[in-house]
Amino acid sequence: MSKPIVVVTRRLPAPVETRMMELFDSRLNADDTQLSVEQMISLCDGAEILVPTVTDKINSELINQLPDSIKMIANFGVGVDHIDLDAAAHRDIVVTNTPGVLTDDTADLTIALLLAVPRRLTEGSRLARTGAWEGWTPTFMMGHRVTGKRLGVIGMGRIGQAVAKRARAFDIQIHYHNRRRVHEDIEADLEATYWKSLDQMLAHMDLVSINCPQTPETHHLLNAQRLDLLQSHAVIVNTARGGIIDEAALAERLESGAIAGAGLDVYENEPEIHPKLIELDNVVLAPHLGSATHEGRLAMGKKVVINIQTFLDGRTPPDRILTTI
Ligand code: DGY
Repeated sequence: MSKPIVVVTRRLPAPVETRMMELFDSRLNADDTQLSVEQMISLCDGAEILVPTVTDKINSELINQLPDSIKMIANFGVGVDHIDLDAAAHRDIVVTNTPGVLTDDTADLTIALLLAVPRRLTEGSRLARTGAWEGWTPTFMMGHRVTGKRLGVIGMGRIGQAVAKRARAFDIQIHYHNRRRVHEDIEADLEATYWKSLDQMLAHMDLVSINCPQTPETHHLLNAQRLDLLQSHAVIVNTARGGIIDEAALAERLESGAIAGAGLDVYENEPEIHPKLIELDNVVLAPHLGSATHEGRLAMGKKVVINIQTFLDGRTPPDRILTTI
């Protein structure tokens, strides 16, 4: 009996690929090279399912060229800003993602950055490795304490809440801005203060964490004007999507000292990083590691498989993304 054909655009963890081979006629990318539009279209010939990742631009141009056989895009990842959902809906292609299973890992990395920047961890690590460290002195490489500071979480969804929960363990005061106020029980648990106005919240925070999805509404949400509202001792962390901050405006302010520091895991034009950010000591840079744990990536793979199997069984996949079209 022939198995359904599934195209996977990047190499996935070995156990996930093995399971996909067992269940489906999987076209894997053993070289793990970025596929061009032409390569992706040609690989999809006769296939039913496309499994892309954040590095693939699944825009309307590509979607409109996909063969009619493609019925589903089962994204390996939670963010779907790289997929044109309306174009997929127009072609009756079902789109799914992998929410929930990378919440803790992304929140952990957010906290790591929130600690690393004020405590100058990577700057200190670099110095220690050069051999130029001359030993402890009372005024050497002082940073700032996070205990008791105010953290403004932008986007109080799963990941925002997981960040806030962890931050409470450091006695950090939680503030948040979200399209909708969260349930009062969640607010009470986190002892969180809601700000309807993002601008007002930004002006009062010591630390800021971006945890909202990238959509047309949140693109450059932190533009130059909003960045100018931050206090000069503020530290900003982004583990969501690079395009939510105007990266050039951020780099300028970090260079001039208008903003004290930043911890970034995501960038506007990955894998490129604004050259100024690379030079600055008050910036901690990670290469999009939010969900990069063995456990998280296996769980993401399992979700992809379940979404595909459910779809092929003729049922609604658990992580189907609904559009209004
Ligand atoms: C996600 O799941 O959105 C991660 O950023 C990787 O795509």
